[in-house]
Amino acid sequence: MRCTIETHELTKKFALQKGFTDFFLHPLAKDEITAVEEVNIKIEKGELFGILGPNGAGKTTLIKMLCTLISPTEGTAYVNGYDIAKDSGKVRESIGFITADERSFYWRLTGRQNLKFFASLHNFYSYDAEKRVDELLSLIGLENRADDRFLSYSAGMKQRMAIARGLLNDPAVVFMDEPTKALDPGAAQNLREFIRERIVKEQRKTVFLSTHHLGEAEQLCDRIVIIDQGKIKVIGTIGELKSDLHKPNPTLGDVFVHHTGKEFKEEMAEHPQSGRRRMVHGMHGGRMRGMRF
Ligand SMILES: Nc1ncnc2c1ncn2[C@@H]1O[C@H](COP(=O)(O)OP(=O)(O)O)[C@@H](O)[C@H]1O
Ligand SMILES: [Mg+2]
Repeated sequence: MRCTIETHELTKKFALQKGFTDFFLHPLAKDEITAVEEVNIKIEKGELFGILGPNGAGKTTLIKMLCTLISPTEGTAYVNGYDIAKDSGKVRESIGFITADERSFYWRLTGRQNLKFFASLHNFYSYDAEKRVDELLSLIGLENRADDRFLSYSAGMKQRMAIARGLLNDPAVVFMDEPTKALDPGAAQNLREFIRERIVKEQRKTVFLSTHHLGEAEQLCDRIVIIDQGKIKVIGTIGELKSDLHKPNPTLGDVFVHHTGKEFKEEMAEHPQSGRRRMVHGMHGGRMRGMRF
């Protein structure tokens, strides 16, 4: 029996576009960056699993591979028992993907109209769509504002809408890429409680969440993986990771320093190579059959 999420030596390399001079000086030299390197993780059903790392660590790349939005360069992974390369359609049907990007909503439509539109992409019949949209509006506590335009919503409400959209197909696994990134501290705190209480405890979803906030990882996650420059540094519960340090009152920041050899700054500078020009490689596009991201 496979775990809900399982990766085996999962690796992603991106080709980097060469500058004009580089191209003439070293025409044959390969210029690439390893965003995710030989990652092995196993996540059980119902876990709230966090991936913690500074900007540029490879969190989004890992999540995109697991959501089948980009293909791995090497290695394999299974989500809900389906191979992300061979059974990508089945993977997509069984997951929800939630980012902090609200631009993919229709700002002039109401919250309800938006959700109904996205439900239609999942091939819901109109009656079922209405029922599901009502259920989700109540789950996210937006019933009273459902008929207001999306543009009038606060950042926290927009993010809840993104969560509702990610749950339309009632997925067993929900991926969230830095869900509180664009929120003020109060709204971020509300959203964390909402994720833990309603999505994990009540709806019994498996949640794979990325964050670059120590406090968020500490407060939310059952287990975390610390990732830096594409590589896993350590995996465990926060309690285990702290007690392994054998020092009084350790913090998660201490755990990070211990395993990476550097301080964790909440807004750490991007990966040294990340400022270079990017070339999108192996993208399937931002729209998947039956789902829109
Ligand atoms: N399409 C791409 N082309 C080239 N490099 C990329 C691309 N996407 C991400 N990268 C690089 O891969 C590394 C990991 O990025 P990312 O997964 O976005 O990190 P995180 O989400 O942890 O901030 C970074 O150095 C980033 O610049
Ligand atoms: Mg990211």
